[in-house]
Amino acid sequence: MKVLVIGSGGREHALAWQCAQFEEVKQVFVAPGNAGTALEKKISNIDIDSEDTPKLISFAKEELIDITIVGPEAPLVLGVVDEFKDQGLAIFGPSKQAAQLEGSKVFCKDFLERNKIPTAYYKSFTETKPAINYVKEKGVPIVIKADGLAAGKGVIIANSFKEATDAINDMLEGNRFGDAGSRVVIEEYLEGEEASFIVMVDGNNILPMATSQDHKARDNGDKGPNTGGMGAYSPAPVVSDLVYTNTMEKVIRPTVDAMKNEGMPYTGFLYAGLMIDQNGNVKVLEYNCRFGDPETQPIMMRLQSNLAKLCLMGANGSLDKAVANWDSRSSLGVVMAADGYPYSYQKGEEISLPASSSTSKVFHAGTMLDNYQILSNGGRVLCATSLGKNLKDAQDKAYELVKKVKWDGSYFRTDIGFKGL
Ligand code: AMP
Ligand code: GLY
Repeated sequence: MKVLVIGSGGREHALAWQCAQFEEVKQVFVAPGNAGTALEKKISNIDIDSEDTPKLISFAKEELIDITIVGPEAPLVLGVVDEFKDQGLAIFGPSKQAAQLEGSKVFCKDFLERNKIPTAYYKSFTETKPAINYVKEKGVPIVIKADGLAAGKGVIIANSFKEATDAINDMLEGNRFGDAGSRVVIEEYLEGEEASFIVMVDGNNILPMATSQDHKARDNGDKGPNTGGMGAYSPAPVVSDLVYTNTMEKVIRPTVDAMKNEGMPYTGFLYAGLMIDQNGNVKVLEYNCRFGDPETQPIMMRLQSNLAKLCLMGANGSLDKAVANWDSRSSLGVVMAADGYPYSYQKGEEISLPASSSTSKVFHAGTMLDNYQILSNGGRVLCATSLGKNLKDAQDKAYELVKKVKWDGSYFRTDIGFKGL
């Protein structure tokens, strides 16, 4: 098999690395990839931007790619899957229409409400005044979300009326998120514990991935600004059998069925961000139309089945025959970011890494190679990931790995996994 992975983050390094473990997979290409994918056996980077669909299609045709796996949401929301399929190319991901589940918060919330799938109550607005009146009516805390893609930064949890009105003004008047913020969703603040519930879908059949949780806040104790994710682990102890059954029966199955019934069957990774209450009831905070980052890194360390084959089965509608085997050990990944992330930070700093083992691996995200030297090249730069006999052991091993990374400008949390311990 020949595989093409689209993207350049830690998620894409982990997806490509997993595929490359299997003998049937002859080569994996990553467009455009990072230093980690450049250095991996059987993996090659290709210099094509992840949003340059015509070039990606030409490449897939020339190289006779058997399956293309899309990492990030942006190419999905642009319609990369529709265009590949029009050319008869196998690709695993949702159509442009189905990717609206992530691409538009209003689309997602309207879909959930219409189909009676549990989620926070909400209303959407394009005008400031009615939006502020809604906040007055509901009170604080309340959550204000930009409608479109904002890289995880378009969500404000307002604890005071002033914070809420500032956020609304910023998004609707101040154009803070451009078009993404020309509509806002205002919704109920939910309490509980969050988990990431990720499944593969082929339009009809569902293959659940191992459970996981991430830490979205930058600082220890889940404090500080929201980020793309500072670490993650799998499995997630909070996903008990009851929570698992509730999620499959009340959230995932109804979503897949409703997408099909509404004429936009969902194919691809589907990631439900869940809020779980004390009684094990779940509500959808958001949908992502892709794998999570950094959830992918610990989950791929545990996946023993060939991901490329599973994605091919997903693309051709045969996930009912697919089995995903999981390493029973726990896995935990600590993100090492550039100091200053998620605001301004340095790039181009030299990094040297320890060797990988069967239980420990440093996945790259924002890195590049300059004459064999690894340089930092983004906000989230590495994810030190380890397997352990339980969560605590995985945590200990991941932090041992972090210590072996030589990079002066790094910032990382020292408590990844605490929610699960
Ligand atoms: P989202 O991009 O919608 O997942 O929001 C980012 C983060 O904001 C989530 O992971 C939650 O931590 C928090 N969040 C979003 N919506 C809510 C809500 N309705 N209640 C409480 N926290 C929320
Ligand atoms: N880790 C959160 C996300 O991938 O959206």
